[in-house]
Amino acid sequence: MTFLGIDLGTSGLRALLVDGDGTPIASSERAYDVAHPHKGWSEQNPADWIAALEDAAAELAATQPRFSDLKGIGVAGHMHGATLLDEAGNVLRPCILWNDTRSHAQAARLDATAQVRALSGNIVFPGFTAPKLEWVRAHEPEVFGKTARVLLPAAYLNHYLTGDYVADMSDSAGTSWLDVGARDWSEALLDAGHMRRDQMPRLVEGSQAAGTLRPELAAKWGLSGTVTIAGGAGDNAAAACGIGALREGQGFVSLGTSGVLLSARDGYRPAPETALHTFCHAIPERWYQMGVILSATDSLNWLSRITGHKPAVLTSGLGDTLQAPGSLLFLPYLSGERTPHNDADIRGSFIGLTAGTTRDDLTRAVLEGVAFALRDCFEALKGTGAGIQQLTAIGGGTASRYWLKVIATVLGVPLALPGGGEFGAALGAARLAVSAATGAKPESIMSTPQIRDIIEPDAGSGSAFDEAYGTFRAAYPAIKSIA
Ligand code: XUL
Repeated sequence: MTFLGIDLGTSGLRALLVDGDGTPIASSERAYDVAHPHKGWSEQNPADWIAALEDAAAELAATQPRFSDLKGIGVAGHMHGATLLDEAGNVLRPCILWNDTRSHAQAARLDATAQVRALSGNIVFPGFTAPKLEWVRAHEPEVFGKTARVLLPAAYLNHYLTGDYVADMSDSAGTSWLDVGARDWSEALLDAGHMRRDQMPRLVEGSQAAGTLRPELAAKWGLSGTVTIAGGAGDNAAAACGIGALREGQGFVSLGTSGVLLSARDGYRPAPETALHTFCHAIPERWYQMGVILSATDSLNWLSRITGHKPAVLTSGLGDTLQAPGSLLFLPYLSGERTPHNDADIRGSFIGLTAGTTRDDLTRAVLEGVAFALRDCFEALKGTGAGIQQLTAIGGGTASRYWLKVIATVLGVPLALPGGGEFGAALGAARLAVSAATGAKPESIMSTPQIRDIIEPDAGSGSAFDEAYGTFRAAYPAIKSIA
């Protein structure tokens, strides 16, 4: 038996073939573009996702004999995107992505509507799906009028694979149409966003079967027998499945373009006022909470661009020994911020530049500023009772040991570094496929990865970083008042 996990990412699609116990066999990747037709817009053509999926599957079918033994497929997707279909299932316009901010006015209006935060458990952020549809209603009424279905990116692939309109809870939780506590579409939320239940896909848990592979696709890929398609997941829930973060206290810090601090939760404890995201997990009766910062490695990449030195060169200049926090402060709000400020307009700053400031000082300030922003997320999570004792560190930024030491010290928890191999969203999606196709309990498949190293907080500099964090906290209102 083999299974396929598909990670439909913002810059490309990755298909991972695993065997029955989730051990990776082979993977295939295809890249595609994001279009930015106007400032703040971010769109993708769903046909590019299908082409990427077809190519990746064809490559695996041609090169991996065990592909013919495929029994299940799970899809993880970038969250919140609005794919609009007409009655016949045709795509009406490019998908509006999670990082598109055109609908900030509609988001603010929905967010201020009675019961919306209470039912959805979240602030309506401009990136979420409901305000996108409100924008389409206002600016593209013809498209809005023809919209028979709205699918998130992963649900669009589910539709392509099964022919059915079906989505999982974890991804649907990011629409602002789902009652996240009840795990069902909410009539009140749909009404507030001028949508109807018949425009929504059927809901299943991520680890349940959503349907079976269309016979035409099975024939094309040389498959016989039933191939189960799992409900799938939003990419963050899938990443949590990939590292086995299912229970209270288990979580990760992800250093990607954006930064995510995620904790699995046994119960539903929304705290929208903190700007934490509270979403259904991809497995039944679990939720997760996460703080999202918009510029994590993006901050370092920006410094890299303007200095002309690769991020690895910048961070290696700092050596391996943690230094006390510098007097230069960096606020990493290059694209605004979600948690804890929910502020699309705030911008980044350096505070405390002198004629003697060096490139290493700038680098150190950037690493520390991102760590302080993650501490904001961590404090919000602790405030909801999340008992995090250790976090798994994932994402490209983990290549810098210095950064990991700063983050461990600023958060005051050890960071576990997975060894080589797979532990990302594609593995999480493949694990959901195993569960959906075989009925295996998610807990029995979604183990934690092998850990190659634990980065402990530096006890000696904890209080100096606490003090610097206090300065960081005070800087946001000060900058806000003059911006
Ligand atoms: C989560 C979010 C991003 C996307 C893209 O709320 O917007 O993490 O899922 O990866």
